[in-house]
Amino acid sequence: MSGAAITGWGFAVPERRVTNVDLEAWLDTNDAWITERTGIRERRWASEGESTATLATDAGAAAIKSAGLTPSDIDLLIVATCSSETTVPHTGSWVSANLGLECGSFDLNAACAGFVYATVVADALMQSQGFRNVLVIGSETLSRFTDPNDRGTVILFGDGAAAAVLQPGTPGGPGLIAADLGCDGTAANILYVPAGGSRQPATHETVEQRDHFLKMNGKEVFRRAVRVIIDSTEATLAKAGITAADIDWFVPHQANVRIIESACQRLDIPMDRTVINLDRYGNTSAASIPLALAEAVDDGRIKDGDLILVSGFGAGMTWASALLRWGVPTGKDA
Ligand code: UT7
Repeated sequence: MSGAAITGWGFAVPERRVTNVDLEAWLDTNDAWITERTGIRERRWASEGESTATLATDAGAAAIKSAGLTPSDIDLLIVATCSSETTVPHTGSWVSANLGLECGSFDLNAACAGFVYATVVADALMQSQGFRNVLVIGSETLSRFTDPNDRGTVILFGDGAAAAVLQPGTPGGPGLIAADLGCDGTAANILYVPAGGSRQPATHETVEQRDHFLKMNGKEVFRRAVRVIIDSTEATLAKAGITAADIDWFVPHQANVRIIESACQRLDIPMDRTVINLDRYGNTSAASIPLALAEAVDDGRIKDGDLILVSGFGAGMTWASALLRWGVPTGKDA
């Protein structure tokens, strides 16, 4: 039995490239350290006028076009983001207006696991409510939430958006096969923004203390990330009754190449079946998995019929994995 299938995709990244060498201009860091410890060589940062909603709009428009649809065909929009356009209203509201959508929309915040969560939620709503064309967008501008002087975080994150149009799948054909969602809230404080929320509203003091920026215990996130990728992908594969050897492509969250390599080694997934693009974009949080997926489809690595395993983890600490068969369901235009 297959769930929703991805029938359109697209992505948008800011023009501005920030290389590791660029960061050396104001940070006590260097290209060799960042490349060796993370695999990241450059990332994109939003310029003035660009934001989570503008990137989401461009990615969403590309996905709608790629599915052969028009905005009026979309019957639900979900934006996965942890760097919302505004606190109120949700990012999807701005995106909906920009795209000219005529449907319901909401944001989903599961940090870097957000796109996979949103895909599972979209699939469930399609099955229970009969939605036919759901637009799911992962979009982030974490450069706006990282302290430019914190070398532990600013080197990692990049801005970008990627989107997918989901349509009903066909049994045995393309579509979502199995998923695993999780959250360990006891680890919430290893990656969070202390101020600017209801617990600690923004004040002059919170800004002076730089508490409106992301704080991260990188070592602890790293340790837990490897563990949850392994456990969550294994749970997903077990639900589907297959093993890692059956997978054509693994598309993990693009946080740190060493996290991916450690997990792949333990899962026995070869690196040449693993999609990596963090060297060019850094960690784009909820956009990272759909961005890697879209690039791998566009360049011909992922083909119709391929079994794709995706897995993300992030602040919360959340995680989400999904197994899907790639392709356009029978009866739909290619
Ligand atoms: O979506 C989830 C988002 N977060 C993540 O995935 C983060 C996961 N964690 C990581 O990716 C890694 O922990 C980091 C890349 C953040 C840090 O790498 P690490 O290998 O864990 O480094 P470390 O924190 O253990 O630091 C090692 C050394 C330290 O120096 P000393 O004490 O050994 O002299 C740090 O001060 O490297 C130093 N260091 C740096 N040096 C140059 C830390 N950051 C930097 C830097 N440039 N940017």
